[in-house]
Amino acid sequence: MFLSKAVAGGALPAIFFLSCLGAAQPPAKSARPREPLGLVPVVWPRDNPYTPQKVALGRLLYFDPRLSADGTVSCATCHNPKYAFTDGAAVSTGIRGQKGNRSAPTVINRAYSLAQFWDGRAPTLEEQAKGPMANPIEMGSTHIGIVENLKKIQGYRTLFTTAFGTDDITIDRAAQAITTFERTIMSGNSPYDRYRAGQKTAMTPSQVRGNDVFLNKAKCDSCHEGVNFTSNMYANLGVGADRPDPDVGRYTVTHDPKDWGVFKTPTLREIARTAPYMHDGSLKTLEDVVEYYDKGGTPNRNLDQRIKALHLTDQDKKDLVAFLNALSGEGWQKIAAPEKFPE
Ligand code: HEC
Ligand code: HEC
Repeated sequence: MFLSKAVAGGALPAIFFLSCLGAAQPPAKSARPREPLGLVPVVWPRDNPYTPQKVALGRLLYFDPRLSADGTVSCATCHNPKYAFTDGAAVSTGIRGQKGNRSAPTVINRAYSLAQFWDGRAPTLEEQAKGPMANPIEMGSTHIGIVENLKKIQGYRTLFTTAFGTDDITIDRAAQAITTFERTIMSGNSPYDRYRAGQKTAMTPSQVRGNDVFLNKAKCDSCHEGVNFTSNMYANLGVGADRPDPDVGRYTVTHDPKDWGVFKTPTLREIARTAPYMHDGSLKTLEDVVEYYDKGGTPNRNLDQRIKALHLTDQDKKDLVAFLNALSGEGWQKIAAPEKFPE
């Protein structure tokens, strides 16, 4: 109802949009970005609505290494457009070459997610963005330190004023700008989306068969469901559970024994471009991932009941990998690093 009205562009939705913006936010000067084919309209948070000014500021902050303690690491170091907004490594490397123990997920299609991080410890994207800036092994700064640095850069004072109405630079505003930018990083219009929209030759016969394996024989969609191929829920597949000191995952957030070794179900969009796989980057290829599911994961005290030996044929496995390749789409490729940063 609301959508069809908005598309029609009558007076009513115009008032609705304006009232959504809230008093402190200057009104948006242009329309919100259109989602590529296959995605649903992004629901922008009421307390951080879309404005092109925030996107412009957020893009600069996202790519600016001056947000890190030694000026060497930006968000894009680990979520690099070149690798579909991941870093192409099993685990990430932060300032002074320090390695973490988890793989950097893509920031594509984050607008459709609920909680953030592999263990869901950040309830919103805004909360998430503040994490790495102050993480000693990622960007290694402090929120106060970042704000002090930004205040010294006249160009940023101007941009914060344009985006927020005053030149008050706070970590919350920086996070709001970064996340507004992030919510415009999207992937849709993949062969899968075009096939679904009726273009029957968009997927190869192998990909069509793989889609069927995904839905029926392997039931991958019991977790990877909906337009973004995730239920936004958590599961234990046993990845890394056989190590001497396994990552306990969501257990650190809830302290519920049922959450031991449980991780968030990630999106499968752009999956062919975001190797290596799983929270610890332990599986190198999509073939490895399919083999992992086929054998029924790694046995452990908390293995999800839906994870069991699948007995796929070699053809099924090939088709399933082909299908996962049909989820490589477009949208995010338009986003490039800024040529220069504010002085
Ligand atoms: C040193 C590498 C590194 C840097 C720098 C970094 N990240 Fe990350 N990012 C990661 C890793 C690793 C994870 C997963 C950590 C976890 O789940 O515990 C992550 C998780 C995320 C997530 C959650 C994605 C999801 O699917 O749950 C988002 C969003 C994100 N980062 C955005 C950012 C932003 C914005 C910045 C800059 C302010 C940033 N990152 C800086 C490595 C990095
Ligand atoms: C019980 C829920 C569940 C089912 C069923 C499931 N997955 Fe997953 N999937 C997950 C979770 C949770 C992760 C992350 C696990 C981790 O890192 O420990 C994941 C990770 C992945 C990854 C790696 C993503 C990345 O960014 O690293 C791929 C690829 C994948 N699944 C494909 C599939 C396929 C193909 C199937 C069907 C054969 C399937 N999944 C079935 C929950 C599920």
